[in-house]
Amino acid sequence: MVKPVGAITRGTTNPNRLRRVDNFIAYHCGPLLKEAAQPLVVDLGYGATPVTAVELRERLADAVRVDVTVVGLEIDPVRVSAAQPFADPPWLEFRRGGFELAGLTPVVVRAFNVLRQYAEDEVAAAWRTMTATGAVLVEGTCDELGRIATWTVVEDGTPATLTLSARLPVLEHPAVFAERLPKALIHHNVPGHPVHELLRALSRAWETEATPFGPRQRWLATVRRMRAEGWPVLGGPARWRLGELTLPWPA
Ligand SMILES: C[S@@+](CC[C@H](N)C(=O)[O-])C[C@H]1O[C@@H](n2cnc3c(N)ncnc32)[C@H](O)[C@@H]1O
Repeated sequence: MVKPVGAITRGTTNPNRLRRVDNFIAYHCGPLLKEAAQPLVVDLGYGATPVTAVELRERLADAVRVDVTVVGLEIDPVRVSAAQPFADPPWLEFRRGGFELAGLTPVVVRAFNVLRQYAEDEVAAAWRTMTATGAVLVEGTCDELGRIATWTVVEDGTPATLTLSARLPVLEHPAVFAERLPKALIHHNVPGHPVHELLRALSRAWETEATPFGPRQRWLATVRRMRAEGWPVLGGPARWRLGELTLPWPA
């Protein structure tokens, strides 16, 4: 067996923590998975328990296609053993592996709360390795309960988009995204850097769009204002209503 690429890190996870990104994967990667001969998704770094991988398989089977297969890869062999009672082959399996993907050629890789624990200068190589066989990578970070999340879609080692996503009923202010940026951005949230400008513009728009009609209407108005100001916001109201804001990475 090839030595897994990476290092064992904290295994913190929680049920339902990744529901926001799972919904995005079904939307964004659904067409690719539907047309794939082998609709394989890798959940890289599922953590101390495999609950989020179990949920990923259930959600994609419901929303995209019933025969989607999910392989949870973990670099920690103890966590691989602990996950076996939750396996449901061939639909859901747990194996040892790292960024090299253990010889698998998935359509999609989800790597959540994994790179956050690496050094920033290790990110680009990890992105390249995880996308080397052509997979679309969805890599990001969230809080313990998954109320605030950010992720980037990476193709061919290059980031394509950045998404900020919040559970709107509990969103007090979009400044909270600053603590949950992907590793590639978190140290760049300082004046003069695009991500700092983005979070400032988002905060200003949110403050301007205070409305008595609740957080969802406020977020929709905020996103529309961002677009009117020239930010190249992607998607449409159906995604924005979920508390998402997606932009091309270069923005
Ligand atoms: C904080 S947990 C994340 C669990 C889950 N993905 C979540 O978001 O709730 C990070 C896990 O990634 C694993 N990990 C770190 N580097 C890895 C690598 N290169 N390949 C596979 N797993 C890795 C760690 O062992 C740890 O269990």
